[in-house]
Amino acid sequence: MSDTQRHPFLHGLSKHRGAPPTVVIIFGASGDLTARKLIPAVYNLSHDNLLPADFYLVGYGRKPIPDDEFRGLAADAIKEFSRRELKPEIWDRVAAHTTYVAGGYDDRAAFDRLAAHIDALEKKLGRDVQRLFYISTPPSVFAPILLNLGASGLAAKHLGLPHHSKVIIEKPFGKDLVSARELNVTIRSVFEEHQVYRIDHYLGKETVQDLLVQRFANAIFEPLWNRNFIDSVQITVAEEVGVGTRGGYYEQSGCLRDMIQNHTMQLLALTAMEPPGSLHAEAIRDEKVKVLNAIQPLTIGPAGDVARAQYAAGMIGGKAVPGYLEEEGIAAQSNTETYAALRLSINNWRWQGVPFYLRSGKRMARRVSEIAINFRRPPGTLFAGETARFDLAANTLSFQIQPDEGLSLILNTKVPGLETRTQPVKMSFRYATTFGSNTAEAYERLVLDAMIGDGTLFIRGDEAEASWKLCTPVLDYWRSVGRTGMDTYAAGGWGPPSADALLAKQNHCWRQP
Ligand SMILES: NC(=O)c1ccc[n+]([C@@H]2O[C@H](COP(=O)([O-])OP(=O)(O)OC[C@H]3O[C@@H](n4cnc5c(N)ncnc54)[C@H](OP(=O)(O)O)[C@@H]3O)[C@@H](O)[C@H]2O)c1
Repeated sequence: MSDTQRHPFLHGLSKHRGAPPTVVIIFGASGDLTARKLIPAVYNLSHDNLLPADFYLVGYGRKPIPDDEFRGLAADAIKEFSRRELKPEIWDRVAAHTTYVAGGYDDRAAFDRLAAHIDALEKKLGRDVQRLFYISTPPSVFAPILLNLGASGLAAKHLGLPHHSKVIIEKPFGKDLVSARELNVTIRSVFEEHQVYRIDHYLGKETVQDLLVQRFANAIFEPLWNRNFIDSVQITVAEEVGVGTRGGYYEQSGCLRDMIQNHTMQLLALTAMEPPGSLHAEAIRDEKVKVLNAIQPLTIGPAGDVARAQYAAGMIGGKAVPGYLEEEGIAAQSNTETYAALRLSINNWRWQGVPFYLRSGKRMARRVSEIAINFRRPPGTLFAGETARFDLAANTLSFQIQPDEGLSLILNTKVPGLETRTQPVKMSFRYATTFGSNTAEAYERLVLDAMIGDGTLFIRGDEAEASWKLCTPVLDYWRSVGRTGMDTYAAGGWGPPSADALLAKQNHCWRQP
């Protein structure tokens, strides 16, 4: 009997299988993400002996960069951004197999040169090499890169063999339903779906994966995971930073596109999906799509299910910060939201009547991402009445995704003493305390998963479309009304009054995580 037959959990989420000889080609190799995350991820995988023995790295971009200079830039990136210090004996192994190809993203001849470059690697090695393309450029050139990968034959290389070509595509995946569909059409004209890995790096975080383990490997949670015991669910992705120097980019995006449509919707899907038949990528993604499709269309407009706002001037960490409209590169009458909140209803047997509240914003009180499951209050009046003595909270199970990853449960307990008094207490588990703090970063796991062909933690094309289908009418409405209904919140706070009103209708209020 194989390991995966004995332990079905091993199949989808275990990483103890080797990757074939691989060349990772990064488009946009001189960029910010490459330096911050991708090169450090490759370095740390090498440190942990998780790269195949025959591993090659090729940077690609418009700016000509000699191989040596690219290796130097990569070493600098490791020194600055890696979770581990650069050790020459480890980096030198990767550096010896690192090269750079210069070319435009819409330059067909340059892609032929790239193909010849990789063919030469294969020839020197004397065996086939899997090609893993990582598109880490602005989205305006996703389509030309994909089409050139098709035209040059790189996409179809080794198709039908286990080491076929693969492509990782960065976010944002489209800017609305139409553009996401168009991008899917372009992708499918070149790659088969099983070759495609759409990134949402939230899925690479430990706590997000732990959500599946907590839900399905512990007998105590799943029986309660439904409308009979759960009162509401809150998903928060809060940032402390403002737009900084990226105002121009942010003006084209906004919070709903940047955070809600992808990260919070993915967290919702994992929280609310039915138990999958196995931990195979397709089994999990099928369940995620089902639950996304079961979300009722939003009521949009005054007193609807949606709130949006921009941050006003305020204080962060004791320092005065400007409002969104005063930031560099922001239009005086901008109607780009820096905060969005949604109230969602899932129309299925498990979740009927349980509101899911999603919110995300910039310049909030602190940086935190969490999923909070609020349970119903216990029946009966044993501890009711005397509120001075009986301070009771609803039980809340919260998964803290960042920072300080962990899990906590709010319980009501008796305060020690001769008089019976109650008080809510928090029972906490922190990853760093139990397992140490130097755990793998999301990008390490995701690059490794794509290398070994495990798509569990990536978004399938239909998932991306299901999520856009829900969010696009909101974007269309906001565009049609300009700044009408745009609320504000003080930088350093927890959001605008209109978002509080979304919850107040059902006697709920936002947690302060
Ligand atoms: N940076 C992050 O922390 C982060 C986080 C999550 C997701 N992402 C996503 O990852 C991708 C890359 O992000 P990034 O911050 O690394 O981007 P970036 O630094 O702005 O651009 C990456 C590279 O793409 C090329 N490029 C830039 N603008 C271009 C344009 N208008 N047309 C064609 N090529 C252009 C440049 O390389 P050459 O000039 O050498 O060609 C640049 O070095 C984006 O899709 C972004 O949304 C980034």
